[in-house]
Amino acid sequence: MQQQARAWKKAGVPVAVVPTMGYLHGGHLSLVVRARKAVGPRGKVVVSIYVNPTQFAPTEDLKKYPRDLSRDKQLCRGAGVVLVFTPSDKQVYPEGFSTYVVEEKLSKSMEGASRPTHFRGVCTVVAKLFNIVAPDIAVFGAKDFQQASIVQRMARDLNFPLKVIVAPTLRERDGLAMSSRNKFLTPDQRAQATVLNEALHEASATVKNKPASAYRLKEQIAAHIATRPQARLDYVEFFDPKTLEPVQSVKCGTQMALAVFFGKTRLIDNATL
Ligand code: PAJ
Repeated sequence: MQQQARAWKKAGVPVAVVPTMGYLHGGHLSLVVRARKAVGPRGKVVVSIYVNPTQFAPTEDLKKYPRDLSRDKQLCRGAGVVLVFTPSDKQVYPEGFSTYVVEEKLSKSMEGASRPTHFRGVCTVVAKLFNIVAPDIAVFGAKDFQQASIVQRMARDLNFPLKVIVAPTLRERDGLAMSSRNKFLTPDQRAQATVLNEALHEASATVKNKPASAYRLKEQIAAHIATRPQARLDYVEFFDPKTLEPVQSVKCGTQMALAVFFGKTRLIDNATL
């Protein structure tokens, strides 16, 4: 991969990378489309597929994380990806590996609070991918809003010479955000999982004409989530989309994010209200 990256650089070919953990769906492919647009007809799009162990806590679903590499490769080929980079664990974390990248501000809340070592793993593997692929552009999904914000901050803080593009969330017809983890839902849970998107719409409607207190709105959303017997709210937060600082007064333009468990499956979603 590194050799190919150097050859492209030498030839002045623009390169975009779309980092993924595989089990690709329409959301991932929409990032590829965005990446192709960004690099233009002369450019190359690389998709990386690597289920990164350091971003999973010991209690999480690393072993169970869905994998289907041959289908993923086929989907990538169909989407005009020139190279699918699938590093091995040994390549990414050689024996004695002991250096990590830690973002210390945006990583503390929400996903970082629920999954304390998660973003350390994400930043470390993304920094390595940036070094290996040496892209001009990297595309991330707004589905993982906090992740995209942290990667943007890391790229700026550590002077990675690339542009981070954040592309919109692709949804199923009933509004559920596409996710590799949706496949773990039972039919019952799948039907109830629309509650995340409903909650985003409910909050949007509530603040459409006048601001609302974050405390009250959290109670309202929690009550809505509780109407689905299989859903268990992990968190709901209202915050400034630039700083990720929580706000007390929620209005149009405030960012909302939530995480909800269905059994062991944890789904996240977010939107600008
Ligand atoms: P993964 O969950 O596979 O997601 C890869 C990329 O696809 C992320 O940027 C994510 O935000 C985006 N994505 C997921 N679902 C989406 C949807 N419905 N619409 C649009 N984009 C969507 O996020 C990761 O992998 C990992 O943390 C990674 C960045 C690869 C580091 O290991």
